[in-house]
Amino acid sequence: AKMNVIIVKNRAEGGKKGFEVFENAYRNGAQVFGLATGSTPVTTYEELTQSDLDFSQMTSVNLDEYVGLAPDHPQSYHYFMQQHLFDQKPFAHSYVPDGLNSDAAAEMKRYDQIIADNPIDLQILGLGQNGHIGFNEPGTDPALGTHKVALTESTIKANSRFFDNEDEVPRYAYSMGIASILKSKHILLEAYGPEKAAAVKAMIEGPVTTDVPASFLQRHDQVTIIIDEAAASQL
Ligand code: GLP
Repeated sequence: AKMNVIIVKNRAEGGKKGFEVFENAYRNGAQVFGLATGSTPVTTYEELTQSDLDFSQMTSVNLDEYVGLAPDHPQSYHYFMQQHLFDQKPFAHSYVPDGLNSDAAAEMKRYDQIIADNPIDLQILGLGQNGHIGFNEPGTDPALGTHKVALTESTIKANSRFFDNEDEVPRYAYSMGIASILKSKHILLEAYGPEKAAAVKAMIEGPVTTDVPASFLQRHDQVTIIIDEAAASQL
């Protein structure tokens, strides 16, 4: 299926476009919003918090969480969501994988059941420099649901800027799988900056391959991509 690619000047403009996608889904009756962390969706969340959209009857389901971090750890994805969205725009139910559940099999099962019970109407995604989505690193079996991931060295390095030192960066995460993501009715992926340009090109124009997890989005029939000019520079 052809992806709907929208090229914007910068993140600020991307946030406004991202907001429009949320607003349309909302007006069309979306109840369950799949949410992502990272710097990419922040401008969209800013627009949401400043809007009059009310999520107090809605459900949110987050993509991933670090294993070993409590919800109130400042680097946990749960905490990130509180700061950037939930404190200002509470949902009726907000689900994030439980990073403190040391029983991975139980956590995977629990989270897959949450997704099955709350089919995602709109899933927002960022994009890793190596083409990962959620924490589905290159090589991940696309048939997996929620699973425990060993983070790659490059992702650990990229994320270490948020921690005092690299030793403190979690080595594992729980992440929705590519199969879980593809079950969403509508997918919105945003990517900004020159360091995303190669991944954007591979995602949109390359073959569908486990080397580039985001390339599986080509198999979905309702994908909106919002990128800035720098991220679009190799298209
Ligand atoms: C992290 C997250 C992804 C995110 C990606 C890009 O590893 N698990 O969900 O999309 O990195 O991060 P950023 O948006 O900060 O560029």
